Amino acid sequence: MQQLTDPFGRSIEYVRLSVTDRCDLRCFYCMPKGFNDFEAPEHWLSFAEIERVIGAFARLGTRRVRITGGEPLVRKDLPALAARLHALPGIEDLSLSTNAVQLARHAGPLKAAGVQRLNVSLDTPDPQRFRDITGGKLAKVIDGLTAARDAGFSPIKINMVVMKGVNDSDVEAMVEFCIEHGFTLRFIETMPMGDTGREANAHYLPLDVVRERLERHYELVPGVMPGGGPARYLRVAGSELRIGFITPLSQHFCETCNRVRLSVDGTLYLCLGQDHKFELRPLLRSGITDAALDEAIRQAIALKPERHEFNDKPGQVVRFMSMTGG
Ligand code: GTP
Ligand code: 5AD
Ligand code: SF4
Repeated sequence: MQQLTDPFGRSIEYVRLSVTDRCDLRCFYCMPKGFNDFEAPEHWLSFAEIERVIGAFARLGTRRVRITGGEPLVRKDLPALAARLHALPGIEDLSLSTNAVQLARHAGPLKAAGVQRLNVSLDTPDPQRFRDITGGKLAKVIDGLTAARDAGFSPIKINMVVMKGVNDSDVEAMVEFCIEHGFTLRFIETMPMGDTGREANAHYLPLDVVRERLERHYELVPGVMPGGGPARYLRVAGSELRIGFITPLSQHFCETCNRVRLSVDGTLYLCLGQDHKFELRPLLRSGITDAALDEAIRQAIALKPERHEFNDKPGQVVRFMSMTGG
């Protein structure tokens, strides 16, 4: 079987596929308020082009695809794309990261299309705070989560970016919320992506502080979860709750990195925290053969840097998170 290996010996088998750079929320730490400079529709990869690129990755050993945005559910007919990706030989794990605002409508069709796992961004269980952080309505997210559970998604992971003085007082309430509903909870450290991310970094909270706080109320024991990402998991003794810690700043996980990112305009980003990239769209639109496409992807993987430099060079990455979907 073919395999993609980067210059640091890491096996690349996880593609994060951004299907749009648009979003129906405006989390202050992600996209600037009033931002409107989105990718032109003629630059969006079509479903056929996406299927072709992911098919090439699958030939080269990719097993996992995560659909991201912006907000992926704003891309029209997303379940149809999911079904096409699910049908590709070799793709064993198809997942989606969403804000869940439009999930109530899409949960059933996405499940039927073969999406197995859902990660949902939710930073607070408080409606007013939710509005302050995102500009949106919490009730829609709750409806989306309920629909996802009813559609049979398992696991459902909640992503909470924990920010000092913004939502760190919600940590315990989120634990109870996730115990009650059977969700997995993951805490994430803010990353200095773009100006928005850097402003949010003023609220940076290392997650060992959160862990120590939780250990005063709960007994935490080692736990495991399906997935291929950077979270490290603990289980709350006496419950089914698993808590994941995603610590790009306090304890980075780059030595085990297994992923690259494809943006909506067909740019392959080799690292979340660096600018290294490779443009696939011009190749796709000039009639490249399958063999040449495979070779182009190998060349791109050779550009993958060793690690991010969020701590040493926080000003480095100008693109914000929504351009690559995290
Ligand atoms: P699983 O397969 O379920 O483990 O998914 P995941 O945790 O990789 O995906 P998700 O989209 O839920 O991402 C959760 C958080 O982890 C987001 O804030 C991402 O930006 C962050 N993240 C995911 N991959 C990377 C990575 O390669 N590097 C860094 N620094 N952060 C990442
Ligand atoms: N730092 C950390 N996580 C972020 N996300 C968006 N912007 C940032 C940032 N600057 C998270 C979202 C979502 C995930 C895909 O990325 O909240 O859960
Ligand atoms: Fe991989 Fe870059 Fe993320 Fe590190 S920051 S885990 S190298 S994508």
